[in-house]
Amino acid sequence: MARHIVQTANQAADGRRTAPAALRNVGPLIEALRVRLPSKGRVLEVASGTGQHAAAFAQAFPELSWSPSDVDPGQRESIVAWQRESGLKNLAEPLAIDVSAPWPVARGFAEAVLTINLLHLVPKPFVSRLFEEAHGALSEGGRMIVYGPFLRGAAYASEGDRAFDTSLRSRDPAIGYKSLEAVSDMAIAAGFAPIAVDAMPANNLLLTFSR
Ligand SMILES: C[S@@+](CC[C@H](N)C(=O)[O-])C[C@H]1O[C@@H](n2cnc3c(N)ncnc32)[C@H](O)[C@@H]1O
Repeated sequence: MARHIVQTANQAADGRRTAPAALRNVGPLIEALRVRLPSKGRVLEVASGTGQHAAAFAQAFPELSWSPSDVDPGQRESIVAWQRESGLKNLAEPLAIDVSAPWPVARGFAEAVLTINLLHLVPKPFVSRLFEEAHGALSEGGRMIVYGPFLRGAAYASEGDRAFDTSLRSRDPAIGYKSLEAVSDMAIAAGFAPIAVDAMPANNLLLTFSR
């Protein structure tokens, strides 16, 4: 049984959840993804959360097919509600993907795999597994894109990051921030080549790798 953390969110009567954190970063993410995503094909989003990002991304990138996913059934219901409300034809039904287990997708399923604010919430072996599964799910030349908070070496980017990481580790010593270097090494070990590290608001980073 996977242990997982679901972010704080409000829920509308139609089932759509909205998370304040996802409202804050959606604009900067769209601008950064405009540069890093392929121009066409399918994006597999891992740990989509509420689905509000998936709906915003599918609307911002109409030439891409967006496949959201989440391990949590309640989050998947919210993603379905966002899909229904948005009416977006390029936003698919959510897949049940747990990064600690094999993914239910064919080899070469997507041209990009994206995950936002997941890596600090799962144990390190899950991150290696994520890169291995993503490598199988991507077509040749596909993009692996990871957003979130990271250590730089052993250093925190801010005192707020230190406090958040400490609270995560007190909840579960197996989770917490990973370093940019350790995450890059895990991606390279799975067969990816680093392409870019983009600085994002609130000290977050967007990492892009190529398969
Ligand atoms: C902080 S939320 C981020 C959601 C969304 N990407 C966003 O930025 O709004 C973390 C999400 O990761 C999912 N999650 C946690 N553990 C997971 C796992 N082992 N496999 C897949 N998803 C997981 C949770 O259900 C939750 O929806």
